[in-house]
Amino acid sequence: MKFFIDSGNLEEIKRIHKLGLVDGVTTNPSLIAKEGKPFKEVITAICKTVSGPVSAEVIGLTVEEMIQEAEELAGWAPNVVIKLPLTEAGLEAAYRLSGQGIKTNVTLIFSAAQGLMAAKAGATYISPFVGRLDDTGVNGMQLVTDLRKIMREYGFATEIIAASIRHVGHLQQAAAAGADIATVPGSLLPAMWKHPLTDAGIEKFLQDWKSVPQLS
Ligand code: E4P
Repeated sequence: MKFFIDSGNLEEIKRIHKLGLVDGVTTNPSLIAKEGKPFKEVITAICKTVSGPVSAEVIGLTVEEMIQEAEELAGWAPNVVIKLPLTEAGLEAAYRLSGQGIKTNVTLIFSAAQGLMAAKAGATYISPFVGRLDDTGVNGMQLVTDLRKIMREYGFATEIIAASIRHVGHLQQAAAAGADIATVPGSLLPAMWKHPLTDAGIEKFLQDWKSVPQLS
C-alpha cells in the first residue's frame, strides 16, 4: 500500500520523506490555510521535494472555474494532481480533464455510488473519507471495502485513497481492506513507528550491554 502524506507542511513531509515512506502528498484548502503561505508557493515546494503525485484542490464550484484552475495548477509541476469535489460539476470536470490527460483525485466521497460515478468519469484517484463517516456513526471503512470490490469487479484503473485517516487502527484496516493508498496525516506517522515495547526493549539491551566485558 502506498502512503500519501496528508499535509501542506514541508518540514513534516521532509521528515517522513527521509525514511522512504512518502509515495505522494495530498493537500486540501484547510491544510493549505494552516501554512499561512501562498498556495502556489506551498505546492511547488512540495513538488520539488516529492516526485510522486501531489494533490492540489480547486476552489471553484462551476465546471468552467474548475477547468480553468485545474489547467493553471497542472502547469505548476508535472506531478500535480487536480483534486475535485464530488459534485455534478466535479464529475464533469473530472471527465473533461481525463480527456486532456490531466490526473484527478475526486474527493469528499461518502458513498459507494459517488465512488463508482467518479471512476466512470475517469478519475485517477477517488478519496473516500473514512474518519468523517465514522464521526456520523457510519462505519467509514466499510466504504473502502465496498469500493475495492466495485473497482475490482468492473476492472476500473482508478486507485482508492483511504482518506480522513485518524489513527493507526484506521491505517491497518485500510491496508486489510485493499486500499491502494492511505493518505496519512504527517503527525500520525511518528505514532505508527513508536511502540512502548520497542523503547523498553532498547533500554533493556543497553542496560545489559553494560555488563559485557570490554577489551582493554
Ligand atoms: C485528504 O484528501 C483529505 O482532505 C483529508 O484526509 C481529510 O481529513 P480530515 O477529515 O481529517 O480533515
